[in-house]
Amino acid sequence: MYPDVIKKEHRIEIRSHIDSSFRSEIIKDVSTGLNASRKSIPSKYFYDERGSQLFEEICTLPEYYPTRTEMSILKLSAPIIMKSFDRGDIVELGSGANGKIRMLLDAAGHSKLSGLRYIPVDVSETALTEASEELLKIYPKLEVLGIVADFTLHMDAVPSEHKKLILFLGSTIGNFDEKKREDFLKLVAGTMNNNDIFLVGFDMLKPKATLEAAYDDMRGVTSEFNKNILRVINRELGADFKPSHFDHVAFFNSDRERIEMHLRANRDTTVHIDDLDLELDIDKDETIHTENSCKFSREGVKDLVEKSGMKIQNWYSDEMGWFSLTELILA
Ligand code: SAH
Ligand code: AVI
Repeated sequence: MYPDVIKKEHRIEIRSHIDSSFRSEIIKDVSTGLNASRKSIPSKYFYDERGSQLFEEICTLPEYYPTRTEMSILKLSAPIIMKSFDRGDIVELGSGANGKIRMLLDAAGHSKLSGLRYIPVDVSETALTEASEELLKIYPKLEVLGIVADFTLHMDAVPSEHKKLILFLGSTIGNFDEKKREDFLKLVAGTMNNNDIFLVGFDMLKPKATLEAAYDDMRGVTSEFNKNILRVINRELGADFKPSHFDHVAFFNSDRERIEMHLRANRDTTVHIDDLDLELDIDKDETIHTENSCKFSREGVKDLVEKSGMKIQNWYSDEMGWFSLTELILA
């Protein structure tokens, strides 16, 4: 019965809400996406163990400005944020590695840690488990409740009995399209009480060349990350995609204000997907759309937040205005 308790030791518990529905979902998503006239695969399937490692590597690349810019904002804002939050649960949605939560915990100070519980929520079990275990080594007084789950489906798995600081960092919100990001913010707002705080990172609009370099780095790490989605489909659905038959493509779509990532077939290729009972002919130059990463204006953020029933309590940014960390509360 779900949740599955994966680990339970002194100060750490990890629960998984990924059940048999994950399998029916990936079958449905991939079948719908690859049978469409414009092929696509949802970006949440990037993040198996290797995908999470590749994303961490992306975060260290000189071209990928979002991580270091958001960290520079956190360095200055974390002491202010943590001053008003000294007891309760810090829930991190799409937590990934633990660099950003460490900045908040350091700002809280070791004496306050025994009053805090950290609740990372991520679909990637390996990333979540590794990050949580490392964190406990650094902050032995902290309590950690890890939740392996899809945050679009399982927000009800997040406990709500304490005051909450909810984090949604890295501009993961930009990976949703307009309708989904509004629905998601409403979903989170629905779990909040009056004195809860929701900290959301937004990647802002900036020159096209800077944006495109961030998603097409010189070392080809983003290309590997993009192609990893094919390896995930091969393993999960018994497919035989050959990643070398596809090229990584990333460009800024200025009408939609988003970076799009695609995989473009560099030859005619045929793919068998056993679990979908599908044989797929993909023509040379045909593309599979794998990710959108939307970029924001200040007006756009304000609009979105208001539509979701929240308001902006504080707005933190860097000198260039490249990234914004917004502190939201219920309106
Ligand atoms: N917050 C981190 C990591 C961002 S990468 C940072 O700011 O650097 C996006 C993270 O969200 C990954 O760890 C991925 O596994 C997770 N993720 C993506 N889609 C998800 C979903 N639907 N439910 C839960 N986690 C998801
Ligand atoms: C997780 N997410 C916010 C990243 C982004 O920038 O959209 C994922 C990513 N894709 C390519 N590089 C990084």
